[in-house]
Amino acid sequence: MNITVPKGLKKDEMYGYIKKELSKAAGEGGDDCAFLANSSAILNLFLQDINWCGFYLWKKGRLVLGPFQGKPAQTEIDAGQGVCGTAAVTGAVQRVDDVHACTNHIACDLASRSEIVIPLKKGDIFLGVLDIDSPIKSRFDEMDERGLTEAGVLITGYLLAEKTFFQD
Ligand code: SME
Repeated sequence: MNITVPKGLKKDEMYGYIKKELSKAAGEGGDDCAFLANSSAILNLFLQDINWCGFYLWKKGRLVLGPFQGKPAQTEIDAGQGVCGTAAVTGAVQRVDDVHACTNHIACDLASRSEIVIPLKKGDIFLGVLDIDSPIKSRFDEMDERGLTEAGVLITGYLLAEKTFFQD
């Protein structure tokens, strides 16, 4: 796997590349952990102006830190706690323009200013979240939400086929 990021990509083109690289990563073998580690690396390569990018996985009713890029982060998040825990209980994408104005935000990196959390779910099955932080206020727009939701669908499909992470 040798990924180069073309210069001057428009946002919709960038999400096309991200989905293509995630699909390739899904075909590379390994297990859930290997795939999620490479997925966080792919997202981190393509997305500009971010300072944390990774996964929390739903285990025994709480979110547990998974593969990520960025500073060390809180290892467990209860249902309903923080932006990630809110995504877990609502099943809805959380797009926070200014985390300083969000009372239910867990600061893992003080540089973070905006955040997007994508639930990884299919029907009633909830596997965890994709969490991305940016040091820039209002970094994530509707196009990011759409592109990352599509990336989340792809990642969820792989995890459901693989399942090894979710065996207790
Ligand atoms: N900010 C998240 C916690 C995880 S860190 O951003 C990596 C939250 O409020 O749930």
